Amino acid sequence: AATVRYEAESAPAACDGTIDTNHAGYSGSGFCNSNNAVGAANQFTVNAASAGTATLAIRYAHGGTDTRSADIVVNGTTVQAASAFPATGAWTTWSTKTVTIPVNAGSNTVRLAASTASGLANIDYIEL
Ligand code: GCU
Repeated sequence: AATVRYEAESAPAACDGTIDTNHAGYSGSGFCNSNNAVGAANQFTVNAASAGTATLAIRYAHGGTDTRSADIVVNGTTVQAASAFPATGAWTTWSTKTVTIPVNAGSNTVRLAASTASGLANIDYIEL
């Protein structure tokens, strides 16, 4: 099935933080700048044509020097704990990370939840 883009700033997506526009290069009308806290999340609702595995692409920017990390939680189950979001060099440098996730046919929740007190990288969108 065709890949669909889900913007971090567009309902039903929810961002524990602010929707910001101060770092150029994002898609849509902004990006999710999560709170700098453990558990701060950006949650999406996505559709899958059929049950099985799907490739999830996450576009993000991280202008710091540490590696941020997030639990990737699908339908309430952590499928990757502390998945790495390496620094991209600048807050305006966006890069895409891909992971394989299990999905149900139809609607699924995909939650990115910060593993450390640094919070998430800035999240632009996911595609699935
Ligand atoms: C800076 C940057 C934000 C980013 C934040 C962070 O304040 O401008 O976009 O989210 O750092 O470290 O998370």
